[in-house]
Amino acid sequence: MDGSEGRRLSVSLVDIQPGHEPQFDAIATHFEALLIRKEYGRAEVVRDESFPLRFYVVRYWTDATAAERCHRDAEVQALTAKLFQIARVTHVVNGARPPQTLRLMLDDRRAHIEADRRTGFDRRVEDVGRAEGNRRVRDRRLGPRRTRERDGEIDLIGAARRAREHADAAFSHFKVGAALETGDGTVITGCNIENATYGLTICAERVAMFKALSEGHRVFTRIAIVADTDAPTPPCGACRQILWEFGGNLAIELANLTEPKGEHQLKDLLPLPFDARLL
Ligand code: THU
Repeated sequence: MDGSEGRRLSVSLVDIQPGHEPQFDAIATHFEALLIRKEYGRAEVVRDESFPLRFYVVRYWTDATAAERCHRDAEVQALTAKLFQIARVTHVVNGARPPQTLRLMLDDRRAHIEADRRTGFDRRVEDVGRAEGNRRVRDRRLGPRRTRERDGEIDLIGAARRAREHADAAFSHFKVGAALETGDGTVITGCNIENATYGLTICAERVAMFKALSEGHRVFTRIAIVADTDAPTPPCGACRQILWEFGGNLAIELANLTEPKGEHQLKDLLPLPFDARLL
């Protein structure tokens, strides 16, 4: 680290499934070499001394652009996909985020809502300097999610399919996986989790969103939802509300285990929404 302003750091906590250490070593070695070769920065893998199968993967980015490029890199995504098959990955520090958003992350969100409750809903998108009215004319909310139109570079549906494998659906036997893409290209997954009282069941989409929020993410672009059905499985009403309030007009990609089943915009699935602008 040379201490220059552009330098950023990301840290992920990686819990390896027993017996998969050799594969992890191979993935980590490949990843470290790749970061150097493509000048994204460098990576370091640190073992947690208290948990034998836990590692911290630290990435020292050359700059924020390098982190972005790395997230979109197909070779990196292929490696990440391999990693997801043998480990649980939790993003602890996301250094790709610009400093302003980092500050927002650390602030109490409520403070922003209280300051101007009508701006509460839009606090999650960067101000692009347009009047609110202009945004409405184009019938969509503008923000970082709309600055990146290169969808499809991250295999979000693949991530949702893998997440579905972790679903705990002992009562309905209906397993669902979700993968949520953040504004900086991080993918956060979720699966449905049921319990004996039924009513406390939580859908894959809300698990993904709450995980992402709890890790400090506040800007979202797309969510993929996967179930093993021929008909598409759209998000339930409760999930639509949560996704709308925290993710805005997300792109929704539906798929089953073998093929895509349609793309939607959340505003079309939740017309006339209630949100913080109306409080
Ligand atoms: N479920 C989801 O996780 N997401 C959806 O979009 C639809 C439904 C879950 C909830 C419950 O565990 C099971 O599927 C059956 O409703």
